[in-house]
Amino acid sequence: MRLLVLGGTHFLGRHVVTAALDRGHDVATFTRGVSGDPPDGVRALHGDRDDPAALPAALDGWAPELVVDTSCQTRAAAENAAAALSEVRGYAFVSSLNAYANWPPGPLGPEDAEPTWSTDDDEYGPVKAFAERTIGAAVGDGFLTARAGLIIGPHDPIHRLGWWLDRISRGGRVVVPDALDQPIAAVDARDLAAWLVGAAERGLSGAVNATGPVGMTTLGGLLDLCREVTGSDAEWVPVPEEELLSAGVEPWVHLPLWLPADVARTAWDVDTTRARELGLPSRPLAESVADTWAWLRVNGRPPMQKLAHRPEPGLPAELEAKLLGRIADDQVT
Ligand SMILES: NC(=O)c1ccc[n+]([C@@H]2O[C@H](COP(=O)([O-])OP(=O)(O)OC[C@H]3O[C@@H](n4cnc5c(N)ncnc54)[C@H](OP(=O)(O)O)[C@@H]3O)[C@@H](O)[C@H]2O)c1
Repeated sequence: MRLLVLGGTHFLGRHVVTAALDRGHDVATFTRGVSGDPPDGVRALHGDRDDPAALPAALDGWAPELVVDTSCQTRAAAENAAAALSEVRGYAFVSSLNAYANWPPGPLGPEDAEPTWSTDDDEYGPVKAFAERTIGAAVGDGFLTARAGLIIGPHDPIHRLGWWLDRISRGGRVVVPDALDQPIAAVDARDLAAWLVGAAERGLSGAVNATGPVGMTTLGGLLDLCREVTGSDAEWVPVPEEELLSAGVEPWVHLPLWLPADVARTAWDVDTTRARELGLPSRPLAESVADTWAWLRVNGRPPMQKLAHRPEPGLPAELEAKLLGRIADDQVT
């Protein structure tokens, strides 16, 4: 079928393109052409989705039957997609758990049909909620919104898991939160991508919480896998939360994937019953970590994400030295 990927040249979208080609679709991507090109065999359509004229001009009579939308970040982008693509049979939209006004920290129950943000500011969660409503109303049946949690895997430019892999691969004493039993859930971009293509094909409707199953791992379990796949001699130096915070360590940013205990308790406890019923897979975490490391070793961190408007993930060297200086050798594990 004619399948349009809105996005497709960066991370999740790139895997969507691969999955759609594997399943024999006639695939087009629509991007500005800033992040590179899709693989051979894909129609590379160009334009800015914030411009109402760009998508109809780029399609130029090529009428998509299915859409997977990985790139919606503005209200204008949502309105323009709603106007141009209301006739498609299946539209799989990538939203975020942030579409729920109470997350993080949650708790989140089973999927609500409606996202819960209804404000008109241009923050990430309210924009995703607006996009779900706007495109959903235009497409009707066959509109599925995947409220994604943490996405991991090869080509991840955000460098959260990537930072841990890099740091742990260098070995030695590594500052880690002492809350190593904190739960974590993540979805592999390749699992989500293939499932999104299938969801569009099947014309699935409604909302799913698109992340890994509760209890799939812990922060400590994930870091142990990083140590294993990098073959590192790293030793954990566990630091209590109060000490991390008082030293100026920013949760999620300086120590990626770590959240303060009161947030972590519910933020990672996301009900994915509907996603599981609809077949969203969850490959072994060891595979995601190993493949991410294999990709990172060969390619290094993609250059363009350094321009992204988000704080640089990872513990600054001076903060690491300060924390390590405070910790006695006998606390190393
Ligand atoms: N990473 C996570 O953990 C996480 C968690 C929850 C939800 N999400 C959501 O998951 C999605 C994944 O994004 P991704 O970066 O992996 O997707 P992607 O489709 O691989 O990359 C983003 C694409 O958007 C295109 N693009 C950006 N601005 C555009 C514009 N104004 N007009 C047309 N195209 C534009 C980029 O190409 P050009 O630059 O060439 O235009 C690129 O191809 C996002 O919607 C994100 O909100 C991510």
